[in-house]
Amino acid sequence: MEKHRVLTGITTTGVPHLGNYVGAIRPAVRASRDSAIESWFFLADYHAIIKSTNPEQVRRSSLEIAATWLALGLDTENAIFYRQSDIPEIPELSWILTCSAAKGLMNRAHAYKAAVQANVEAGADPDFGISMGLFSYPVLMAADIFVFNAHDVPVGRDQVQHVEMARDIAQRFNHHFGKVFTLPRAVVDDSVAVLRGLDGRKMSKSYENTIPLFESEKRLRKSINKIKTNLLEPGQAKDPDDSTVFQVWEAFSTPEQATGMRRQFADGIAWGEAKSKLFELINDEIAPSRKRYEQLLADPGFVESELRLGAERARRHAVKLLDQVRNAIGIGPRL
Ligand code: TRP
Repeated sequence: MEKHRVLTGITTTGVPHLGNYVGAIRPAVRASRDSAIESWFFLADYHAIIKSTNPEQVRRSSLEIAATWLALGLDTENAIFYRQSDIPEIPELSWILTCSAAKGLMNRAHAYKAAVQANVEAGADPDFGISMGLFSYPVLMAADIFVFNAHDVPVGRDQVQHVEMARDIAQRFNHHFGKVFTLPRAVVDDSVAVLRGLDGRKMSKSYENTIPLFESEKRLRKSINKIKTNLLEPGQAKDPDDSTVFQVWEAFSTPEQATGMRRQFADGIAWGEAKSKLFELINDEIAPSRKRYEQLLADPGFVESELRLGAERARRHAVKLLDQVRNAIGIGPRL
């Protein structure tokens, strides 16, 4: 029987932070070891160039993100790990889908609408600085998903709309050309923590409140010390449910450790001590991977070879799917 196919992309901009780790990378790495499902993970570098015109940044971020996932133990025998730009069938399919995607549907994409809104508020032309890449972003995402006939697409809340748009595009295509594409489903896992950042809001690059996942031990300790707390003194009882320090603790601790820390909050643990314990807890979990990460950054050839193997496996499926699609729309097989 065909295995359940789960696929997700990681846009290669920026440095992974603890929020990405807890919310996306850690669960995905665990899932990669489950032989009952077929996991597909890819570096979405064609999506990255929508936001970044800095080639060095795109290159660097691809390497860092690939090294991060590998260092954390992604099982590349079981899961298929590749780079979007190594699969030429994806942009090929993206164009074909562009011809099935309703412009009116794309007009409603949140990311695009937000960009227009920002222009209007600034008194600028509504389309100022908006590329066709940004506008067509959901179509490329649909191509990512359909090219491997993925069933489930684990994403953050902000991406659910894009997966729904992909379903819509698939339905239109299938209506015209016969049932070629599987209708994908967005999967939002409510059980994984949305980590809070230094200022107590959701940890996010756009809030500049992040703690980088693999910064040095010394800097990690410093970052944790910057987490905002209140002015309660040592000895005064503190409310764990109102504390970012405790919320982050819980994302890394066992349930028993969480209960223990709750008790210490009630007993008036000093903020400095709570933070120092938090540092130890996080560092114990990530230190071995940090070491491996540094080794991988020093050996980009190895990272490259992993991605190549992944791309070869992935392309076998992509080529077949594109043959089917080309045939369905009346364009013959490739030369
Ligand atoms: N747009 C997604 C994000 O920024 C990344 C992504 C690209 C993706 N293509 C995808 C996710 C396909 C799921 C499926 O998070």
